[in-house]
Amino acid sequence: MKTIAITGVLGYSGRYVAEEAARRGWHVVGLTNSAGRLANPAGHELRPMPWSSRENVLEGVDVLVNTYWVRFSYAGAGHSAFSHAEAVENTKLLFESARRAGVGRVVHTSITCPDAASPLPYFRGKAELERALAATGLPHSILRPAILFGETAAESILINNMAWTLRHLPAVATFGWGRYGVQPIHVQDFAELAMNEAESIIPAHIVNAVGPETYSFRELWRELARSMGICRPIVPVPAWLGAMAAGVLGRVVGDVMLTRDEIDGLSQGRLAVPGPTVGTRCLSHWLRENASTLGREYASELARRK
Ligand SMILES: NC(=O)c1ccc[n+]([C@@H]2O[C@H](COP(=O)([O-])OP(=O)(O)OC[C@H]3O[C@@H](n4cnc5c(N)ncnc54)[C@H](OP(=O)(O)O)[C@@H]3O)[C@@H](O)[C@H]2O)c1
Repeated sequence: MKTIAITGVLGYSGRYVAEEAARRGWHVVGLTNSAGRLANPAGHELRPMPWSSRENVLEGVDVLVNTYWVRFSYAGAGHSAFSHAEAVENTKLLFESARRAGVGRVVHTSITCPDAASPLPYFRGKAELERALAATGLPHSILRPAILFGETAAESILINNMAWTLRHLPAVATFGWGRYGVQPIHVQDFAELAMNEAESIIPAHIVNAVGPETYSFRELWRELARSMGICRPIVPVPAWLGAMAAGVLGRVVGDVMLTRDEIDGLSQGRLAVPGPTVGTRCLSHWLRENASTLGREYASELARRK
């Protein structure tokens, strides 16, 4: 039986990749920062991330799938600090461990439109990691999702919290006119893609992991509101005002709801790409099926890291 090591098996997409890998007959090893802190209902064999172990935890591993990343940098109260810079350095250590252990293939999760010249650390860090992975010389696939959704409302943090805003505020906002695109992919489509790439023999492959539907940000609000049966004005606001409002709401719910960098990445059109799409599950169908639970509870990114 072949062994696959997956980061984030106790998180969101990594858990779905692990389930898909197990269904396909792989022996799954989860690499985690959070053994003992988070539940492990699937009972995966867990090993520490390479940067917290003296041994090479990737010895004997055939394929590595990496979903580890941090959504934003944070140094506030109540949590240990984390940052994009640290995630970049840690991920390079992960790739180096894979190279030293002779892992046969790496499937790495990036982002649509990574950009080494971007002032946004998320997109710049992802571009740096794509380069670092290629430099290992290992056979690899790079998956570039824009935004993930499914299976449950609570897991789909970004979409769920848009729905929460619709339920709780008298109006919602686009940053500028909201004409920039968003291409959501269902997490199970993403997991199947990741495993297809894990089993691929193409030496180096980059895939835009974007789903079958493209929305402008304004249309995304409309689609959400329509499926939830809620009517709200959608007001264009400047990015700085959107970031300020998100900051205030974040303080109310004790989370980082949306950062200025995320607003800029979105409104620069970085969450949509031309060309073929993958996946078959449509956000519009999923929204209709989950409309009654979407946004009932706020889904906190920081609470997941406690
Ligand atoms: N979710 C989306 O909508 C979306 C959109 C575009 C791209 N992506 C990319 O897809 C990949 C997976 O996303 P995801 O949403 O599935 O990730 P996730 O579950 O939020 O995070 C994956 C793992 O990274 C570690 N991690 C996350 N935040 C951390 C922090 N602040 N400090 C230390 N470790 C942290 C955790 O490992 P432990 O559990 O071991 O602690 C977590 O399980 C990422 O590379 C992301 O950039 C996601």
